[in-house]
Amino acid sequence: MKISPFKIEEWMNRYEAGALYDLTTTCIKPLTLRELMNINNSSSYAEAEFSKIFDTSLSYGDITGSERLKNNIKSLYSNQELVNITVTHGAIGANQLIFYSLLEKGDEVVCIVPTYQQHYSIPESIGADVKLYFLKEENNWLPDIKELSKIVTSKTKLLCLNNPNNPTGAVIPNWLIEELVEFAKRNNVWVLSDEVYRGLNLIGNPYSISIADIYEKGISVGSMSKTYSLPGLRLGWICAREDLINEINHQRQYNTISVGVVDDFFASIAIENKTAIQERNFNIMQLGMKTFSNWLTNEPLVECVIPNGGTTALVKYKKDMPSRELCRRLQNRTGVALLPGETMEMEGYVRIGFCAIALKPALDLFSEFLHQ
Ligand SMILES: Cc1ncc(COP(=O)(O)O)c(C=O)c1O
Repeated sequence: MKISPFKIEEWMNRYEAGALYDLTTTCIKPLTLRELMNINNSSSYAEAEFSKIFDTSLSYGDITGSERLKNNIKSLYSNQELVNITVTHGAIGANQLIFYSLLEKGDEVVCIVPTYQQHYSIPESIGADVKLYFLKEENNWLPDIKELSKIVTSKTKLLCLNNPNNPTGAVIPNWLIEELVEFAKRNNVWVLSDEVYRGLNLIGNPYSISIADIYEKGISVGSMSKTYSLPGLRLGWICAREDLINEINHQRQYNTISVGVVDDFFASIAIENKTAIQERNFNIMQLGMKTFSNWLTNEPLVECVIPNGGTTALVKYKKDMPSRELCRRLQNRTGVALLPGETMEMEGYVRIGFCAIALKPALDLFSEFLHQ
């Protein structure tokens, strides 16, 4: 099966490792295992849990996720049972399984962009008829139902969105999620909501409502990578209605078997200590956002709608240069790595990870470059 190059991942594979300042990142400084086990400051807890995993047989484990983990994932929703959950190889595995389980050649899919490229390139590769709906800066990067209704029809099978959004950092307010659900119901469409940044709202409750809790055709994708700072676990999940989960598990036999007992175990530890991780991450996010906002205020050659969640911002730059060239030259000259907008179908923009380490000197170097 042919599929388009995954532009973001290709760019990051090529440029991220060599960066002196990596602002391409979407992760909040990943935790070490020691940090994770000590996150609640109890050495007896860490010892007891470590001894459990050291004595666990490295079998395939529970195929679709242990009961402990599924119960922990269930606790992140308000209206779900264990049969509504399956565990996957990251959110990337989750998204792929959903497309393979739901779509056939000729199905109509509407995808809200900018987003993670999987959401349109996998459906395209299956032979679906994919329509892109571009979010607008003047609408604070939020979907407009009037505009969406010109694209989504009763022929549409699946609507894909990402909330909070990568790259814009926009968080769809709960009232708008509810309106989107009403709209989806009217058109009888499935909604895939990639919620890997759920829990990272900067304003109000860190967790927005999940689509799976309020819509029977709502599919939520979650992950340990962003909210829990554990991308190395390679663990995600899908939460959806039982018949779809059964169909996904049928597909899943062919590419997952299980995620492994080690990843499953540490993911449970993380969710059980989510408040402490959240606190740590919120501090990093707030510091990053302060630095980023100060920079925006003082830098006339950029414009940006300030994110209210997630870990990234989409920045429009005032320099007559394509984004790939700008990022290549910037990195060659200064060591600062940014993600070119073109890799997200957003030419004229760059993505900045505002939780990155050494954000301030990197932004100063970017400013110097813009003014040259
Ligand atoms: C919106 C979105 N979905 C999915 C993924 C993949 O996440 P995971 O590490 O859980 O596979 C990413 C990673 O950046 C992402 O930003």
